[in-house]
Amino acid sequence: MFKRLALLVTLVACSNLSAGQGYIYEDDLLLDTFPTDFQWGVATASYQIEGGWNEDGKGPSIWDTFTNGTTNIDDQSTGEVACDSYHKYKEDVQLIKNMGLTSYRFSIAWTRILPQGTGTANPEGIQYYKNLITELRANGIEPFVTLYHWDLPQALEDLGGWRNPDIASWFEEYARICFTEFGDDVKNWITLNEPWVVSVQGHGIGDHAPGLQGIGTTVYEVSHNLIRAHAKAYRAYHKDFAAEQGGFVGITLNVDWAEPQDPNDPSHQEASENNLQFSIGWFAHAIFKDGKYPGVMRQKIDAKSQEQGFEKSRLPEFTAEESAEIKGSFDFLGINHYTTHIVYPEIGSIDEVSYFLDDDTTDYQDSNWYPSASSWLYVTPFGIRKLMNWLKNEYGDVPIYITENGYSDHQGNLDDIHRIYYYKHYINNLLKAVKQDNVNLKGYFAWSLMDNFEWARGYTEKFGVHSVDFTDPARPRTPKASAKYLSQLASRNGFTSSVGPCSNGR
Ligand SMILES: *[C@@H]1O[C@H](CO)[C@@H](O)[C@H](O)[C@H]1NC(C)=O
Ligand SMILES: *[C@@H]1O[C@H](CO)[C@@H](O)[C@H](O)[C@H]1NC(C)=O
Repeated sequence: MFKRLALLVTLVACSNLSAGQGYIYEDDLLLDTFPTDFQWGVATASYQIEGGWNEDGKGPSIWDTFTNGTTNIDDQSTGEVACDSYHKYKEDVQLIKNMGLTSYRFSIAWTRILPQGTGTANPEGIQYYKNLITELRANGIEPFVTLYHWDLPQALEDLGGWRNPDIASWFEEYARICFTEFGDDVKNWITLNEPWVVSVQGHGIGDHAPGLQGIGTTVYEVSHNLIRAHAKAYRAYHKDFAAEQGGFVGITLNVDWAEPQDPNDPSHQEASENNLQFSIGWFAHAIFKDGKYPGVMRQKIDAKSQEQGFEKSRLPEFTAEESAEIKGSFDFLGINHYTTHIVYPEIGSIDEVSYFLDDDTTDYQDSNWYPSASSWLYVTPFGIRKLMNWLKNEYGDVPIYITENGYSDHQGNLDDIHRIYYYKHYINNLLKAVKQDNVNLKGYFAWSLMDNFEWARGYTEKFGVHSVDFTDPARPRTPKASAKYLSQLASRNGFTSSVGPCSNGR
């Protein structure tokens, strides 16, 4: 889960009401089913659920540091205990089994496997994930494993972390241990979760660990090394593991849909396109197309850097060798999608050096849209179908998984009809993308299995389909109505004409 800054949504008051009302229109639900091999799952991330922050030889991560005795987190909380999944993983597996889901997306804490980031592996950390994977398999649940969901070993941060080009090799070393130890039972690997957030929030705005603020410069250095690291892990798998293990390696990118403010104005269409190239294209273009950054990023950032007096472009270039390694380094595309922005062109001032000004667009969200507990998350089901079509047009017929999609509230109430509304309409738009637009969507992972540590928001924003009582040391979990709703969708593999929450009645 990621959080875009409120500064991006300050223009809601200026929204175009007639356009806004148009965007709220709900099409009838399509009553049909997904392909028979469609995967239904839920997702989590290690730091958000595990706790056990210093147990059994685990090293500290940048999130242990970032939350420790600071005011970085709204409720001053930490992930030291979180959902205590380090001890309660068997219960988590039962929750998933009770929902009748076929898959679970979780992440491995690098610091449990390699407490110092490189060097000597920690057998107890490895055993924890072996136990979890065995438990999943015993219950007929397919593991989808994220190698990096933001909890970098602090020892590596002390060496420059994602700013240090050596991190591509450090990441490969860690990935190889995971492939070796878990690859007999794990067939689906996600290298990185949301490198956009790692770059922009971790190293640009600084509201995520490690809290650095280089919004026009460091962000591009870091994204460069993230892409290089991804490619090295992908190539390592296909060189030394794929033949024997037969699995797949992809990357998970976050992207909001960019709706042109005036869909008939070519300059607004171009703004939408540029916004998408600067968000998902930043990471996807090199991997899924040609080993380079999108042309519009190259051209705009090169020109602005020069005008701003930088010696070199703020956007680095891949060497020919790197480009060759990066191009085509995917078996599938993971997409985390939550919301939409309305976009129009606006030339960004060069007086300020900022990623947010580099694309010459401005965006806002419509105050008519249903809000959530998250400042950046408005309910816009139409966006996910448009996004699926854009991805297909841009990157070809690549297999896609929705690796996150979900809705937040503050209450954590069990009768969460607002969350059911969200899932119903987003998933039905995905169904239309599959059945009517021929998008190659292979599976859907709801965010999240349960309420958890929502990064800088602490425990104040709840995305779970299970509630967790964080005041009780036993951290009991309780299914919400949305858990039942998702399990009905999964058991019917889509929307059927029968009555109940899956019917067309609203
Ligand atoms: C947290 O802060 C305490 C007190 O300064 C320190 O002893 C401890 O090592 C810190 N833990 C981490 C993970 O940084
Ligand atoms: C609102 O949107 C409509 C339709 O896209 C457009 O014709 C109109 O000019 C817009 N109005 C404003 C004030 O932006």
